[in-house]
Amino acid sequence: MEVLERIDAVQKRCEDLRLSGKTLGFVPTMGFLHEGHLELMRIAKRHADVVIVSIFVNPAQFGPAEDFDRYPRDTEGDLEKARSVGVDIVFLPSVPEIYPDGYQTKVSVDRLTKHLCGVSRPGHFDGVTTVVAKLFNITKTHIAVFGQKDYQQLTVISRMVRDLNMDLDIVGVPTFREPDGLAMSSRNAYLDPEQRRSALSLKKSLDLARHLLEKGERRAEEVKKAVEGLILSHPHTAIDYVTLCDPVTLEDVETLEAETLLALAVKVGNTRLIDNCLLGGASKNEDIPKQKGQRE
Ligand code: PAF
Repeated sequence: MEVLERIDAVQKRCEDLRLSGKTLGFVPTMGFLHEGHLELMRIAKRHADVVIVSIFVNPAQFGPAEDFDRYPRDTEGDLEKARSVGVDIVFLPSVPEIYPDGYQTKVSVDRLTKHLCGVSRPGHFDGVTTVVAKLFNITKTHIAVFGQKDYQQLTVISRMVRDLNMDLDIVGVPTFREPDGLAMSSRNAYLDPEQRRSALSLKKSLDLARHLLEKGERRAEEVKKAVEGLILSHPHTAIDYVTLCDPVTLEDVETLEAETLLALAVKVGNTRLIDNCLLGGASKNEDIPKQKGQRE
């Protein structure tokens, strides 16, 4: 496995690979890798000849009061894990390598970023789309793989790729969960045992919403009330949002007649966790609806 820190080295290596006829698959990460990340890498391997992973904790997507400084980091462990699933190239840039002095360009997706996490994390998605656009330019990848746990991120990036005619496919992968249902996240490392138990309320509330729908409930407000009640019955929880919305536009819905996204952001102690599922409509599982420019 090659570990490259410089943009010019990655660009040259990827260009040579493309010219030699190889297909490239890319998994961007902020490190502190868990099984969910490794699953994205395995899927990238199925789609491409060469797998590139970036490990970069991107300061541009953290607000001033957020956890950039204390975000968990473990470079040695990450390299070991990436190696274990057969990653070919790890890109490990420094902050000045990505944002050198004088840097002043942003990539911004408009309406989709105004909903859900965009409300309480202003500027977050601009940070994500900017770094992801740069990483796509650096790796020149054919496909890029993202988890559906970050449903809004996946939707926003798919939109950016379509709107800017970026020549790659986005692959969305269902959320990877711990055996007890907690969605895998690097931030789970912040939870103490009692908070870890309370964090299960997110998945339990998704299951409750599915159950209500199966019993015939179609009023979004009623589902939302039940979900909020279940989450708040657990200690250390504070709700950022519980939203039932259109899975493509992310705009709120009042009734659950068509397929609906239930998305949650909940603080458990000081740790902000997100989760989501699709309710009703054509698919009753957690697969994101296939969008233009996105392949399975
Ligand atoms: O999902 C993440 O880990 C990050 O938002 C990403 C896509 C690597 C961009 O920094």
